[in-house]
Amino acid sequence: MDRLLSAEQRAAWQRDGYLVLPGFKDAGPVQALRERAHEIVQGFEPDGQASVFSTREQSRLAADRAFLDSARGIHCFFEEEAFDEHGQLRQPKALSINKIGHALHDLDPVFDDFSRGPALAALAHDLGLAEPLLVQSMLIFKQPGIGGEVRWHQDATFLRDDPVSVTGLWFALEDATRDNGCLWVQPGGHRGPLREVFERGGTAEAPSLALRTLDQTPWPDASQAVPVEVPAGTLVCLHGLLPHWSAPNRSPNSRQAYSLHAVDARSRWSSANWLRLEGGPALRGFDGPGR
Ligand code: FE2
Repeated sequence: MDRLLSAEQRAAWQRDGYLVLPGFKDAGPVQALRERAHEIVQGFEPDGQASVFSTREQSRLAADRAFLDSARGIHCFFEEEAFDEHGQLRQPKALSINKIGHALHDLDPVFDDFSRGPALAALAHDLGLAEPLLVQSMLIFKQPGIGGEVRWHQDATFLRDDPVSVTGLWFALEDATRDNGCLWVQPGGHRGPLREVFERGGTAEAPSLALRTLDQTPWPDASQAVPVEVPAGTLVCLHGLLPHWSAPNRSPNSRQAYSLHAVDARSRWSSANWLRLEGGPALRGFDGPGR
């Protein structure tokens, strides 16, 4: 297997728990992904979900169901502030979607191509994934004005395996800055404990989702957080235990990113994960025709 990273980059990954690779994707593939995402949103018919559900409980259950159904499918999720008190969109649909998830990499040919290829296969190996499997993908819009905060978290909370192998690949599709809600990370924080786990409970007919605290270690304070301001085309690699967050986007421009998660097939996937790996297309690694 060819190497993609230098010895210094591999050492930085081990030390910091994250790695920034500017220019990993050319402008062409980035543009193709953004255009395909726009087409998916245009083809998505909101079912009036905000106005149909009369109680918070009904709304929450329906939201949980849509979330679970998206695990091995393609679904558009709205921003929290997208609807007014009458359940009407405050702005056009294309500016109201929070993200598309969670099996774009397996089900959509444009995303499949972007998500695979020799460079990514070599990178995954350098990052320590001996037998990588792609398990989740998200197109994150971070819409102008209403793109919400994503609080401090560790991705292993949402994709748990043992030993922890989950690795995030975060591709900037637009320049990410402090003004439009770039990532913030805690360098070295991946050596701390997993603080929370997001688990599926309830029954098969009425599943429920909840966060459970595993460890009371506080989240980093502002002095420990480093902003990851990067130009479009940059790939940011994130260890599954690295604490990170992003601020709301109060700028007039979106901050689109594509987030892809891989695990090592040798780790044991938790049966309590919200995302079940069965019941969809066969899981694959990074081998494919893309860059
Ligand atoms: Fe994350």
